[in-house]
Amino acid sequence: MKVLITGGSGLLGQYLNKTLSQKFEILTCWNKHQGNCTNYPNLRLDLTNNDQITGTVKEFQPDVIVHAAAFASPILPPEISRAYVNQVNVTATALLARLAQQVSARMIYTSTDLVYAGYRGSMLTESAKLVPLSLYAETKLIGEGKVARECENHVILRTSLMYGIGLNHAVSHFTGMVKSLKEGKPVKLFTDQIRTPLSYADAARMIGEVISQLEIKGIYNFGGKDRLNRFEMGEILCKLGGFDTSLLIPSSCRDIPNYPAVEDVSLNTEKLGAHGINANSYEHQIKTLLSRLSY
Ligand SMILES: NC(=O)c1ccc[n+]([C@@H]2O[C@H](COP(=O)([O-])OP(=O)(O)OC[C@H]3O[C@@H](n4cnc5c(N)ncnc54)[C@H](OP(=O)(O)O)[C@@H]3O)[C@@H](O)[C@H]2O)c1
Repeated sequence: MKVLITGGSGLLGQYLNKTLSQKFEILTCWNKHQGNCTNYPNLRLDLTNNDQITGTVKEFQPDVIVHAAAFASPILPPEISRAYVNQVNVTATALLARLAQQVSARMIYTSTDLVYAGYRGSMLTESAKLVPLSLYAETKLIGEGKVARECENHVILRTSLMYGIGLNHAVSHFTGMVKSLKEGKPVKLFTDQIRTPLSYADAARMIGEVISQLEIKGIYNFGGKDRLNRFEMGEILCKLGGFDTSLLIPSSCRDIPNYPAVEDVSLNTEKLGAHGINANSYEHQIKTLLSRLSY
């Protein structure tokens, strides 16, 4: 099966490259960074270039497009325009979905848990109220609509906060947190935003399982097993890694300027779980990650 990966150089993408290449014939795409894409058949693909997108899909003729590339930050930096975010997250997504339909490919789109309203309770199902608070979340939700309209055979994965070791240039928040704790430096963590965190490794494995199960279609929550805020995630990391818990400083997402204060977007993942596709527990994943870190 031929799988085209966009965002192959990202935090998730590099895990996708490693995992999906074991089972499928991949072509992985990057834009500004190559990361581990150079270990696989790869291509520079700029999602602001519609001709390049069209040429890539028409030439490779994928059976599946895993569209993980995005402008993926809830905070809009001053140097990034709204038009750019719209082009990458909406226009390019719509074009990829249209092309997927034309070449009879299945489209797998990584959306976000931030499309949900954060004030409606916990362990949200796929039918929960949608209120995206950031431009990022809004454009990902519009992207969902484009994917559903343009490509019949689609899977939308409403992805929770991801964590893990960033590969190559892709430095993750998790790696920074472990480094600080190891050096005895304090780490500020939100106590007022609850998610169901998912490791990059689990996310990549589970996307591989979604690809293999052809009957999976539509919208799915895509998250971990445990309902946690970032401070609790830090506490578990300290307990399992032998770090000093007093280095963890409780903070509020409201303290960060322009950060959309989303309270609780923990996800009920039973719909995907019914297909036997499940994440490992947070503790299990942290133990695995710590065993891989040299510290
Ligand atoms: N990380 C999370 O916690 C999280 C949570 C929920 C959903 N998601 C979703 O999961 C997906 C992957 O997230 P991530 O954390 O891996 O993101 P990331 O590390 O920021 O990576 C973004 C990827 O998109 C590519 N990209 C950005 N602009 C592009 C452009 N103009 N043309 C082509 N490629 C472009 C980047 O390529 P270069 O680096 O080569 O420029 C990179 O490969 C995204 O769709 C995101 O919305 C992430």
